[in-house]
Amino acid sequence: MRQEEVTSWVQDAQAAFLAATDLDSLKAARLAHAGDKSAVALASRTLGSLTPEEKASAGKIIGEAKAQIAQALAEATAKLEAQRDMKVLLEEVVDITLPVNRKHRGGLHPISIIKNEVSDFFIEQGFSVEEGPELESGWLNFDALNIPADHPARTMQDTFFIEPVESGMVLRTHTSPVQIRSMLTQEPPIYVICPGRTFRADELDATHSPVFHQVEGLVIDKGITMAHLKGVLDNFARHMFGSDVETRLRPSFFPFTEPSAEVDIYFNNRWIEWGGCGMVNPKVLATCGIDTEIYSGFAFGMGLERTLMVRHGITDMHDIVEGDLRFTRQFGVGL
Ligand code: PHE
Repeated sequence: MRQEEVTSWVQDAQAAFLAATDLDSLKAARLAHAGDKSAVALASRTLGSLTPEEKASAGKIIGEAKAQIAQALAEATAKLEAQRDMKVLLEEVVDITLPVNRKHRGGLHPISIIKNEVSDFFIEQGFSVEEGPELESGWLNFDALNIPADHPARTMQDTFFIEPVESGMVLRTHTSPVQIRSMLTQEPPIYVICPGRTFRADELDATHSPVFHQVEGLVIDKGITMAHLKGVLDNFARHMFGSDVETRLRPSFFPFTEPSAEVDIYFNNRWIEWGGCGMVNPKVLATCGIDTEIYSGFAFGMGLERTLMVRHGITDMHDIVEGDLRFTRQFGVGL
């Protein structure tokens, strides 16, 4: 075995490893120059048939050659692995500044969000949530609430009557008929709120909508006074508008409450009318078969659109009804 010959194997191997451009071609070069059938491997297998002296010198030559080949292979492997890693890093780089093409989840309309918020607040205090039909009998919407036949609210300008007009059906103009339904079907004590859609023959403008939402509250129990009403409204207002909001009751008139009041809130440095309220008129209690000697109660009602508009500084009703996602998304998905 000649040193020159072995040296050329080593040089061939080094050249082949150096020429490899990636790990795959390096593997082919490794099999050819350092594998079982490579020249060094075959040569080292012949060592056994040599005389001890020959074996000593040839073994040294072969051993050195193998070490050099192994070192060249290790260097080439390290270089090509580093190249591969760099390539992977570059190819798989993620540009976190790219705009995402994300599907938006559906969400609740802000009116639904505020309706849930109001419901949760009262449920926590033991109220139940009642619902009534939007298409309501005129008797429940007006008569039972002590709204007489000649009351201006009962004109075509205010109320959507349903044909045939003799049916006496209307699109409810407020949630107060649900008070009547609750009193007719439940024994006191009654603690209910009734959120829902209401309808009035108004044009859609910045502050009106023919379809809007109210929430009604009704409490019937022994010994209920206006102080209870004020306390409930105070807590309700604080929940909706923040802990430093103030409320005031301003004398007013509703046929179904006596005495009646408007409830105002002091919010953002001004007094704003929020809703109506009062002690349930004994006439209404009597109509519903409630013993006015034993029970008294209060009721209140406010618009949810108005509540939302005041709280969020919304100045145009169109934003609430038009369903533009740029508006509704500001309130979060609310799911
Ligand atoms: N129903 C009245 C309205 O729509 C509001 C109200 C409810 C007033 C309950 C007093 C008591 O204007």
